[in-house]
Amino acid sequence: MDDLIKQTAADLAAAHHVVALTGAGISIDSGIPPFRGKGGLWERFDPMEIAHIDAFMQDPARVWDILVREMKEIVDRARPNDGHLGLAKLEQLGKLKTVITQNIDGLHQAAGNSDVIEFHGTFAWQRCMACGKKYETRRVDISQLPPRCECGGILRPDAVFFGEMIPTDALLRSRNAAENCDLMLVVGTSAVVQPVALMPVIAKDNGARVVEINPEKTPLTGEISDYLIMGGAGEVMNRLIEELEKTLR
Ligand code: APR
Repeated sequence: MDDLIKQTAADLAAAHHVVALTGAGISIDSGIPPFRGKGGLWERFDPMEIAHIDAFMQDPARVWDILVREMKEIVDRARPNDGHLGLAKLEQLGKLKTVITQNIDGLHQAAGNSDVIEFHGTFAWQRCMACGKKYETRRVDISQLPPRCECGGILRPDAVFFGEMIPTDALLRSRNAAENCDLMLVVGTSAVVQPVALMPVIAKDNGARVVEINPEKTPLTGEISDYLIMGGAGEVMNRLIEELEKTLR
């Protein structure tokens, strides 16, 4: 791993427009379970049955009770870990412009990154399905499900359910970032969900270097990524920042 850390630090030092694409793996050390693989949420629930917009519309109380309540408890407690803090440090060093994240936990903003594109929306906010008013999730009273707006409308996460469109501005801004970067760090994603998994392909197609940080291989590995640093986001980011600071000195 040391050689790849050194190589990535050199790539970062030479890069002029770095973008990161992150997934659930970067938030695992903050106590947020992933979706796939060991302990994944989708090992316990069928996403199409419980995280699909049709399921929510059919029975919002049930989706709130089974999925959303648990997510609220986990996200309310979650704090950024070394993986998030490393990406924030990269921005401070002038070596990361944009984070495209699939995560809905708000931890990149909490860590200090200033340009975060939330490809799947955010769970940090709920919005009224009748009047559109937004409420901070941590302030929503869930003693009655589904929680309601002052106007009486039902509240839903400001996140993207399966079966819904990706917010257009997130999609276009992400595509623009992928088209214009010269280095993309792909951190903690299984790269199986579309269209977000297209972003590294667009970056590669535009001549960018693509570096994965993940304990496991993904469909990008060996196809799109120039190389995979096999390790946890927190540990790898700590070593990468250490190496980069030596290079920038
Ligand atoms: N550091 C980095 N990566 C890790 C770590 C870690 N400590 N631990 C696990 N991983 C990797 C796993 O190997 C896997 O590749 O994180 C990835 C998690 O994959 P998923 O759970 O599929 O998460 P993600 O890729 O973000 O899912 C994409 O699917 O259900 C939808 O909307 C949901 O945004 C989510 C999307």
